[in-house]
Amino acid sequence: MWIEVCKVGDIEPEDLIRFDHSGQTFAIYRSEDDEYFATDGLCTHEKVHLADGLVMGDIIECPKHNGRFNYKTGEAKGAPVCVNLRTYPVSIEADSVRIMIG
Ligand code: FES
Repeated sequence: MWIEVCKVGDIEPEDLIRFDHSGQTFAIYRSEDDEYFATDGLCTHEKVHLADGLVMGDIIECPKHNGRFNYKTGEAKGAPVCVNLRTYPVSIEADSVRIMIG
């Protein structure tokens, strides 16, 4: 099911926002070249909100212990994280960002 998250302009380039839906938390990213991506919103290490972290290129750095993931693929990239993040398809319809969940 496609869920509308926000408008394209609601996320700055090379940044992310938190999105909560039906008791689940997601992180929605805009890359520096204006592509959009979605992952689970909580770090796989200790369930910290990644939206409080820092985007650098293809990487989201967790705010708690600086674990790193590639937010485009979900791949865990740096200790102490070793479990990949789940990713979700994103589509842009007019000026809305939507993700596919469920
Ligand atoms: S909670 Fe994210 S690296 Fe520890």
